[in-house]
Amino acid sequence: MQPSLLQRMSLQRLRLPDAAKPAWLREASALVYPGPNDPAAWRAFVDASVRFAKRHLPAEVADALAGFYAPDGPDALLIENLPVDPILPAPPSDGKRPASKAAVSESVIAGLIEQHAAIVTYSNEKAGAPIHEITPVEGLEHQVSSTGRVPFACHTDAAFLAPRFSPRGLLLFGLLNEPNAHTAVLPLDRILEAATPALVRSLEQPIFRHPSPSSFEVAAAVVGPIVWRDSRGIARIAVQTHAVQPAVGEAHGEEARGAIAQLRALLDTLETERVVLRPGDALLFKNDRVLHGRDAFTGERWLQRAYFTDSLAPFREHAGAPEDAFVFDAARLL
Ligand SMILES: [Fe+2]
Repeated sequence: MQPSLLQRMSLQRLRLPDAAKPAWLREASALVYPGPNDPAAWRAFVDASVRFAKRHLPAEVADALAGFYAPDGPDALLIENLPVDPILPAPPSDGKRPASKAAVSESVIAGLIEQHAAIVTYSNEKAGAPIHEITPVEGLEHQVSSTGRVPFACHTDAAFLAPRFSPRGLLLFGLLNEPNAHTAVLPLDRILEAATPALVRSLEQPIFRHPSPSSFEVAAAVVGPIVWRDSRGIARIAVQTHAVQPAVGEAHGEEARGAIAQLRALLDTLETERVVLRPGDALLFKNDRVLHGRDAFTGERWLQRAYFTDSLAPFREHAGAPEDAFVFDAARLL
């Protein structure tokens, strides 16, 4: 049965019972995080992590997780109180995973994703790491990106990639959140409900230029719509709200400019769901159905992020990559 609009628009929250934590934590603590160029070790890490997640997730949480990944499933899911590294190093101010960190959170992340989907990453972002460190990076705190502390308006990730090669969804995992900083989420349905039909029509036109974000070491831009319907008629969105532009030389420049201004103004008026990701909380959402953002914050905040997709086969086929590849050059996917 398809979830109602109301169910789609409200965030489902679940909590891992305390009793399920110690054994999962013990098993995950014994894993060694694989090196960056060892696909076989990564696969073994993922397989073990999936076994742990299957063993320790109670039926109610496991069912909700399976439902989330189903084609008609809800667009977002929050699972609280998951195992997390008992001792954490200081948040990495260079944005790179500290070698001294245990692999508990990474194992939980892999276990929550790879039962039903596949982790995907890009060699041009965060050096192709399968799991990204999201914490302020020295010298880049003022960037409107995952390295910053400044407000980041609601957006989708990797909006410059074709829908089939952009992440289908994101998992954000809380490691440290001293300031109780919010992560804002805004379902597309809420935007479409509030937008005028004329604005929606404009957003569906391929008259927008989507530049690659500053987190990617690739300078590229594609022209396309902001909102579109998939083959089943379901609305999808891709937009880097602060950076999207009218397509250069486009005859519909005025329409595009007006639509971007209206969309930004609309987003300012809409109430977002504000989630405080505490240590051990995992927020999963569909990247083309839910926008996300954050307020400015001070203090120490460290999240981890993983992108997932339904299947890596189209990526591998397009890039001519081997069958164990999950890191792709975004420039070759344009
Ligand atoms: Fe983002």
